Amino acid sequence: MASRADIEFTYTSIDRIFRLSLGELADYSGARYDGDFSLTLEQAQARKHEYIAEQIGIGPGHRLLDLGCGWGALLNFARARGAEGVGVALSSAQVASCRRHGLDVHLRDARTVDRETFGPFDAVASLGAFEHFCSPDSYRDGRQEEIYSQLFANAASVLPVGGRFYLQTMVFGAKMIPFEDVGEHAPRDSDAFILFLLGCQFPGSFLPYGLEQIVRCAQPHFRLLESSSGRLDYIETITQWSKRIGAPGMRKNLLKLRLLPRWLRSPEFRYAFTSGVSANRVCFERELLDHFRMVFEKTDAPGTLDDPRG
Ligand SMILES: C[S@@+](CC[C@H](N)C(=O)[O-])C[C@H]1O[C@@H](n2cnc3c(N)ncnc32)[C@H](O)[C@@H]1O
Repeated sequence: MASRADIEFTYTSIDRIFRLSLGELADYSGARYDGDFSLTLEQAQARKHEYIAEQIGIGPGHRLLDLGCGWGALLNFARARGAEGVGVALSSAQVASCRRHGLDVHLRDARTVDRETFGPFDAVASLGAFEHFCSPDSYRDGRQEEIYSQLFANAASVLPVGGRFYLQTMVFGAKMIPFEDVGEHAPRDSDAFILFLLGCQFPGSFLPYGLEQIVRCAQPHFRLLESSSGRLDYIETITQWSKRIGAPGMRKNLLKLRLLPRWLRSPEFRYAFTSGVSANRVCFERELLDHFRMVFEKTDAPGTLDDPRG
């Protein structure tokens, strides 16, 4: 798993710049354009929320668990719908920001949340966090599927039979190269170097190998109801983020100046945030990465039917 320090690096470092550029409770995961790029980013994020609500049931009185809730966009949407949301994140700045906005959010590893933690829920969602649940080291140790399987088992423990889990995550794509080739010394525009830059922005994170691996790990507890690739929608989302984050502003410039000592000290920081390349976008364009939006339903598989916890 990406450690707490890794997550602080990725998200807490950009907390204030992010909130100034995208809004206090903005989404930081792929929006849902469904290919209609005449939509604004905000419309496409709203469309995503509506879709999730329809698929997993977010409405008055429902309890929603958000695993890796970021700055609280989905929880805020759920609250407006009359639902009760509980979120976890590993960036202290995100947790503090969510709490300032009255959201019930905890600094806690999402992978450890089960029924004992916050009780039962009607629905679970996780957007853009699954990417962080396995680290390159855990992958090398052969623990990737064990980690995902445990996450699904825990998610199943909080849901009733028939309860739904919306999961959205990046995965390695059809043109992914052998992971051992990824490195700093690869030629500058090569796939290997772009993936190295991506790793600098998201240290400690490693992706699933396609939709199939995720579905296999979910299967003892969940069946897949629906899935779609969000790769092209994500490219548009990143394009819109870059415009907003790059737009000049006095406060933003001051914040960027305050990061200068870190920039000078740390090559990782320079690679992660100022390489001049949107590694994520290039990886999607080259199909080194894909992106999936999945709706799972908890099954009454053996072992769960007789479980008095539902
Ligand atoms: C790309 S952001 C997505 C945020 C949010 N879901 C959204 O759509 O805007 C990834 C989130 O996952 C959280 N995260 C990563 N690893 C985590 C872990 N092991 N436990 C809890 N949260 C985690 C980060 O703190 C961050 O909030």
